[in-house]
Amino acid sequence: MSQHAAADGPERRVSALRAQLEHHNYRYHVLDDPEIPDAEYDRLFRELQALEASYPHLVSPESPTQRVGVRPVTGFGERRHELPMLSLDNAFTEEELMAFDRRVSQRLGLEEGEMTYAAEPKLDGVAVSIRYESGRFAWAATRGDGSVGEDVSANVRTIEQVPLRLRGHGHPRQLDVRGEIYLARDVFLEINREAERENRKLFANPRNAAAGSLRQLDPRITAQRRLQVFFYGTGISDPALSSRTHSETLEQLKEWGLRVSPLARTVSGVQGCLAYYREVLEQRDSLVYEIDGVVYKVDAHESQKRLGFVSRAPRWAIAHKFPAQEQVTQVHDIEFQVGRTGALTPVARLEPVSVGGVVVSNATLHNIGEMRRKDVRIGDSVIIRRAGDVIPEIVSVIPERRPAQACVVELPEACPVCQSAVSQPEGEAIARCTGGLVCPAQLKESLRHFASRRAMDIQGLGERIIDTLVTMGALGSPADIYLLKPDKLAGLEGWGEKSAGNLVASIEASKATTLARFLHALGVRGVGETTAQTLAVHFGDLDSLMDASVEELQAISDIGPVIAAHIRAFFDEEHNQDIIRRLREAGIHWPVSIPQAPTQDASDGPFSGKTFVLTGTLKSMTREQASQLIQNAGGKVSGTVSGKTDFLVAGEKAGSKL
Ligand code: IVH
Repeated sequence: MSQHAAADGPERRVSALRAQLEHHNYRYHVLDDPEIPDAEYDRLFRELQALEASYPHLVSPESPTQRVGVRPVTGFGERRHELPMLSLDNAFTEEELMAFDRRVSQRLGLEEGEMTYAAEPKLDGVAVSIRYESGRFAWAATRGDGSVGEDVSANVRTIEQVPLRLRGHGHPRQLDVRGEIYLARDVFLEINREAERENRKLFANPRNAAAGSLRQLDPRITAQRRLQVFFYGTGISDPALSSRTHSETLEQLKEWGLRVSPLARTVSGVQGCLAYYREVLEQRDSLVYEIDGVVYKVDAHESQKRLGFVSRAPRWAIAHKFPAQEQVTQVHDIEFQVGRTGALTPVARLEPVSVGGVVVSNATLHNIGEMRRKDVRIGDSVIIRRAGDVIPEIVSVIPERRPAQACVVELPEACPVCQSAVSQPEGEAIARCTGGLVCPAQLKESLRHFASRRAMDIQGLGERIIDTLVTMGALGSPADIYLLKPDKLAGLEGWGEKSAGNLVASIEASKATTLARFLHALGVRGVGETTAQTLAVHFGDLDSLMDASVEELQAISDIGPVIAAHIRAFFDEEHNQDIIRRLREAGIHWPVSIPQAPTQDASDGPFSGKTFVLTGTLKSMTREQASQLIQNAGGKVSGTVSGKTDFLVAGEKAGSKL
């Protein structure tokens, strides 16, 4: 760094670095096609930060280092939109679309021929208008009432997909670009999971979460929310843009580094619109963000100008809406389902209703805390929502429609499956059945988990046969799996000698396992795959883990007081000790390793201070082996991606972490 700085003078180096960082930002965020690894980007970024720290007079507001302001704002100012931010008329049917196309043609005096429309997805987020002055980010505002919006500049600046300086040439002195700020579905789910853990109110949908994140008073929080943006137009009537069509405008925006939907394209006539609609609808569930329809815009600016506006919507554009992902229906009943850890999940039985094209008759209320917070009662009219492959859920009650006889559902005192006591510790959102493996519901879920691929991996021991065997009384705990005999299985409906023999063989094969898998299979609360691995590496064998005190457990990095207490309580339970003894007697075994030397010894390893997350199937080794290697080199392995993650190691079929 100092070499460059000394040779070129700090100004030259600073501006070269900014240009490089802007280029790589554009490749990464707009083109989705990075040229350099993230670590290289970080290196350039840190070099720029260091130079700016040494030469504060070189800091400028457009510098890539200046996205997140440090001070929370006390409220939002106002911004007047030079051209109002309009809304769109909707078409819900083909007929309505055809009527729109006819009106357009008639007004333009076109008898025949097909209109060219610019077609785009209709993003379900928050509209924003961003002012660039001579190519530099000046301010950003929400739509507000269309004429005056809230100044959300400090927050919008934190969105890396929003350039602080436009690329290329020919920027108008003043340019307002209009776009939609949105949240990817998995980020929304993650935000809600965190809110659930912290007992905060959940967001109803990604749009609300995006709006909430955009209106955060503390930009540092907005910066963590990973908001995204697509631009779909400008707010100047006579664009200093030389484009003659909307599609050319979008091309121009792209060249200036503004992110435009890759699904945008021109189509011809109503038939072209309909084909586009079907195609995008087909893709809807596989997109990582939500769209609620498509928009068709008369492509030629000249024609747009002639068509003009009615009240608050242009005559030259229409939104063709998809089937809604939220619907209103009635709650007929609320029942409780019991999961593996005994958690009682309230499930609403609903008047069946079609949501986003699928008939829904049940919706989850997540947990008792959420049910009370939303105050859902039997008889209520509720808004339900189904999006992507997420389980349908109740978003909210419509209080005005509550009938007088609507009935509050109380938390049952006894488990609906096994009648054991239900407990809900003070301050926790989740109520649980205390029956443990005595509860058939918990037992079935525990067995399923025990046999699952990432735990003991017993092929053939699926949901159906587990249900049958539990009901028959043949399986009372995971230890009973190892007592199953082929002749007993072969007599069951749908089972012959061959399938019975196969299952017993895979039960036998599962006995040779690893300590980490075994710990994961036991299903201790809070001990997932990664924590099981950490424990296995730390203790090397089961007995020392079973003897460990809460303090010892808590001293392990990544294990907090709550999980430490769960682990201790699990091994203190005589019933669990008995199951573990029987499993070991049945022949379950694992290679015993020497407990890992205290982490301090590896603290000067090449990965020291770095946090890794592993996801997907790795090629040359198992994830357990990989995390062992990382830990040996001084690194930490965590189960979730967060701000502390330095490296994500992604194998095949990597999921949402990637
Ligand atoms: S054009 C003059 N294009 O939908 C036309 N809007 O109901 C103004 N929206 O407030 C909007 N995707 O927030 C346009 N591709 C798209 C859009 C889009 C989402 C939102 C936008 C606007 C609302 C209009």
